Amino acid sequence: MLKELVTKCRTFRRFYEDETISMEDLRELVNLARLTASTSNSQALKFRLCNTPEETAKVFPTLNWAGALSDWDGPEKGERPSAYIIILCDLSLGKNKLYDDGIAAQTIMLGAVEKEYGGCILASVQRSHLAEALSIDPSRYSIDLVLALGKPKEEVVLVPVKEDGDTRYYRDENQVHYVPKRTLDDIII
Ligand SMILES: Cc1cc2nc3c(=O)[nH]c(=O)nc-3n(C[C@H](O)[C@H](O)[C@H](O)COP(=O)(O)O)c2cc1C
Repeated sequence: MLKELVTKCRTFRRFYEDETISMEDLRELVNLARLTASTSNSQALKFRLCNTPEETAKVFPTLNWAGALSDWDGPEKGERPSAYIIILCDLSLGKNKLYDDGIAAQTIMLGAVEKEYGGCILASVQRSHLAEALSIDPSRYSIDLVLALGKPKEEVVLVPVKEDGDTRYYRDENQVHYVPKRTLDDIII
């Protein structure tokens, strides 16, 4: 059921880092994005896959995690993502395809959940550092989004937004992560 998959497709930021994701799995996820809608069917998005400890170690320091959790700097060693899919725009095929990025990102995340993985879409990325670390030519590609992937090691619970309207996510003392969501009636006008 799609609803079940979408509900299970939460943002996870802590992982069993030693649970690797094969290149074949990453390629299957990108293959889902290949089949999605694309502005003018330009298919300007390209994807860089990283799943070795050498490469993931280069990506991690360029990412900014969980802006709403001011006392948390991101996952510790051993709980970091075991793979990344970096969504790039091939500038020779089109300029920043922002809508295409989102469609590709969510499709890949849904595919990851189906494979019992999970992860986090990251837009807060030190792009020039990442381009340099992975030798991505910035005159040829823009770095749009980074998808961090792994075997989730945390519980994420959806809760209704309270009366005060605060949508910031938070954690309790057991590190359970809560994500407030608005009701259906609140979002249909
Ligand atoms: C386009 C986009 C960019 C995001 N960028 C970041 C990011 O840079 N860092 C981060 O920790 N989370 C990032 N997130 C994750 C959101 O914080 C997360 O989706 C939100 O808290 C809701 O949680 P949920 O995905 O479980 O519904 C991003 C999500 C989206 C859709």
